[in-house]
Amino acid sequence: MILESIEITNIRSIRKQDIEFPSSTMLFFGDVGSGKSSVLKSIEFALFGTLVHGDLSGDSLLRRGRNTASVNLTFSIDGKKYSIKRSLSKDRKGRVSQKECVFTDHDNGTRTTYAPTDMRRKILSLLSYSVSRYEKATKIPLFRYTVYTPQEQIKEIIQADPDVRFEILKEVFGIEKYEITLRNIEIIKDYLNDKLREYKIKIEQIGEPEEDILQKEKVIEETKQQINNIGTEIKKKENKISSQEKIIEEIQKDLDIYSKKIVQIENKESNINEYKAKQRKNKSSLNKIQKEIAGKEEELKNLKEIKVKTELSEDQLENQLEKIQKLKSQKEKEIAVVKKILADVDKLLKEGKCSLCGQAIHEKDRFEKEFQDTTLKVGSFSNEIDDLTQKNNEQKKLLKIIREFQKVKNKRDSLSSLISEKRKREADLNTLIKELFEKINRNQEEIMAILSEYKITNLLKFKNFGEEIEVKLNAEKKSLNKLNSSKESSGNELSAQKKSLEYLQKELVELNSNIQLKNSLQDNLTYYSQLKNWVGEQFPILIRDIEKKILSSSAHHFNSYFKEWFHELVEDENIEVEIRTDDFQPIVYVNGYVSPFKDLSGGEKSALSLAYRLALNKIINERYQEVKTKDLLILDEPTDGFSQQQINRMQPIFEKLNTSQMIIISHERNLDSFVTDIFNFKKENHITRVTKESI
Ligand SMILES: Nc1ncnc2c1ncn2[C@@H]1O[C@H](COP(=O)(O)OP(=O)(O)O)[C@@H](O)[C@H]1O
Ligand SMILES: [Mg+2]
Repeated sequence: MILESIEITNIRSIRKQDIEFPSSTMLFFGDVGSGKSSVLKSIEFALFGTLVHGDLSGDSLLRRGRNTASVNLTFSIDGKKYSIKRSLSKDRKGRVSQKECVFTDHDNGTRTTYAPTDMRRKILSLLSYSVSRYEKATKIPLFRYTVYTPQEQIKEIIQADPDVRFEILKEVFGIEKYEITLRNIEIIKDYLNDKLREYKIKIEQIGEPEEDILQKEKVIEETKQQINNIGTEIKKKENKISSQEKIIEEIQKDLDIYSKKIVQIENKESNINEYKAKQRKNKSSLNKIQKEIAGKEEELKNLKEIKVKTELSEDQLENQLEKIQKLKSQKEKEIAVVKKILADVDKLLKEGKCSLCGQAIHEKDRFEKEFQDTTLKVGSFSNEIDDLTQKNNEQKKLLKIIREFQKVKNKRDSLSSLISEKRKREADLNTLIKELFEKINRNQEEIMAILSEYKITNLLKFKNFGEEIEVKLNAEKKSLNKLNSSKESSGNELSAQKKSLEYLQKELVELNSNIQLKNSLQDNLTYYSQLKNWVGEQFPILIRDIEKKILSSSAHHFNSYFKEWFHELVEDENIEVEIRTDDFQPIVYVNGYVSPFKDLSGGEKSALSLAYRLALNKIINERYQEVKTKDLLILDEPTDGFSQQQINRMQPIFEKLNTSQMIIISHERNLDSFVTDIFNFKKENHITRVTKESI
C-alpha cells in the first residue's frame, strides 16, 4: 500500500487539511502538539475505523467543539488506486459514532457505500489481513507492529509484561494458530472417539452376515425347488382343466342339440295341437253339414208327388189359355150385340112402332121370325161360350197343376243342388280332416323319431332328459370349478413363494451389502483409529515442533537484525542485546551483566525500542509475503533522546529496510539528511497547518 493523499476535516487539531503524499521517505516536522500524530491517526482511522477501547475512539478523534468529522484517504495497492471516506458525527447526547463510508475504486470508477464494519472487512481483505481475526477486533496488532506504532506505544512492547508481549507476538507471527490447532485437536480427538464408538456399534449391530448368508442361500434354494414343484402341479392342473373344459364343451353341445330338439318337438307339439283344434273344428263343421244334409234330404223326401197329364209346357198352356180367352171374349161381344138386337126387336114387337120415327111395324112376322132366329143364335152362342168357359177352366186347372209341379220341381232341384253342395263340402271336410290326421300322425312320428334318436320312448322322459344333461353339465362344471380353484390356490401359493423368494433375495442382497458395509465400516474404523492415533499422538508433536521451529527461526532472524541494528545505533562495545528465543524477551547485557530496560539511558532505550521495532517489522514482512502493507512504514518520534550521531546512523538501517514509502515524525530537524520530502506542521489558534517544504 502506498499513500496517495488525505483530506482531513475536524480531526483533533486539524480543521481542514489536504496532504499529497509522495512515494518517498517523508519527514513530518513540527513542534510538539502541532498535529503530526493527528494525521497518522487519521490514516489509521480511515483504514480501520474507530477502535473503541484504544486511542482511536471517535470521541478522541472528533475535534472538540465540532459535531462532524471526516477523513478521505486515497491509496494504491499493486498499482490500483482506491479511496475511503469515513466520517464521524456527534448526536445530541454527545455520543460520537461513525457514519456510512464511501469506497471508491478509481480503476473501474465505482463508488460504493458501506456500513463501517463492512468497510473494515473490505479493507482487511484488500490488504490481505485476516478478515475473521480483525473484523471485530479492538486493535489490529499486525498494522501496529509492521506499519505504524503510535508515538506513545513504541516503548510499550519492550516494557510490556513478557507473557502479554509474547501473546501479541505470537498473534503477529501467526503462531497462535498452532495453539488453536492443538486445542482443536482435542475437539477432533473427541469427535474421532465418537466416530470410532459409532463405527464399533454399527459393526456390532450388523452382526455376522456371512453366516446368515449361507442359511439364506439354503432357504432360497428350497424355495426355488418349491416354486418348480408348484409350477409342475399347476401345469398338470391346467391339463386337467382343459380336458374338463372339453368334456363340458361336449355336454354343452349335446345340451344345445337337445335344446334345439326340444324346440323342434315343442314346435311339432304345438303344430299337433293346432291341427287337432282345426280337426275338432272341422269335425264339428262336418257334423253340422251332415245334419243339414239329413234335414234337406228329409225335406226332399217330404216333397209331394205331382202328376201332370199333359205334355204341354206351361207356356204352351198359357198360349192356349189366352187364345180361349180371346175367343170367349169375342163370342161374348157377339152375344152382347145379338142380345141388343134381340132386345130391340123385342121392344119393337111389343110397342108395334118405331121408337125413332114412330112408324108402325109392318112386317111383324119377319121380325118375329128374326127374333126367333136370333134367340136361337143367342142360345148357340151361349153354348159356345159355356164350352169355352169350361175349356178355359180346365185349362186353368191344368195350368195351376203345372205351376205347382214346377214349383215342387224347382224346390227339389234347389234342395238337390244344396245337398250336393253340402256333400261336396262334407267331402272337403273329410279330406281336410284326413289330411290333418295325417299331419298329426306325421308330426307324432317325427317326435317319435327324435325320441328314438335318444332311445327314449316317452316324451315325458325325453323332457326330463334335458334335466339329466344339465345335471351332468353342472356336475362337470362343479368339478371344473374345483379344478380351477385348486389351480388358483396353487397359483396363490406360487406367488406367495415367489414373493418370499423375492424377499429372501432382497435379504440376501441386504446381507451382501451389509458385508460390504461392515467391511467399509471396518476400513473406516481402521482409518479413524489410525487417524486418531496420528491426530492425537503424532500431529501435536509435529505442531509443537513446527511452532518451535518457526519461533526459533523467527527469533534467530530477529536476533540478527535486532543485534545488528542496535549496534548500528549504539556503538558502545559494553552493551550487548539479544532476545530470548522462546518468548522474544529482549535481554540487555551491560558489561557482561543482565541489565533491566529501565536502567538504560533515554537514547539507549530509544535505540533498543527502534531496533526491536524495525527488526519486528522486517521479520513480519518477510513472513507475510502476501500482506499489502509492506511498502509503508510510519515511525512516530523514533529518535526521541537520540544524539545527532545516533540519528545519522539511522540511514543505513532505513536503506536496509528498503521500504518504498516512509513517514518519519520528529519535532527535531536533525533527520533532514536522509529524507526526500519535508512537511512542516504548525498550529495557530489551535488549528494545524501543514505545508510541504521544497528541498
Ligand atoms: N479531540 C481533540 N480536539 C481538539 N484538539 C485535540 C484533540 N485531541 C488532541 N488535541 C490536541 O491536538 C494537538 C495536536 O496533537 P498531536 O497531533 O498529538 O500533536 P503532535 O504534533 O505532537 O503529534 C494537541 O495540542 C492536542 O492537545
Ligand atoms: Mg505526536
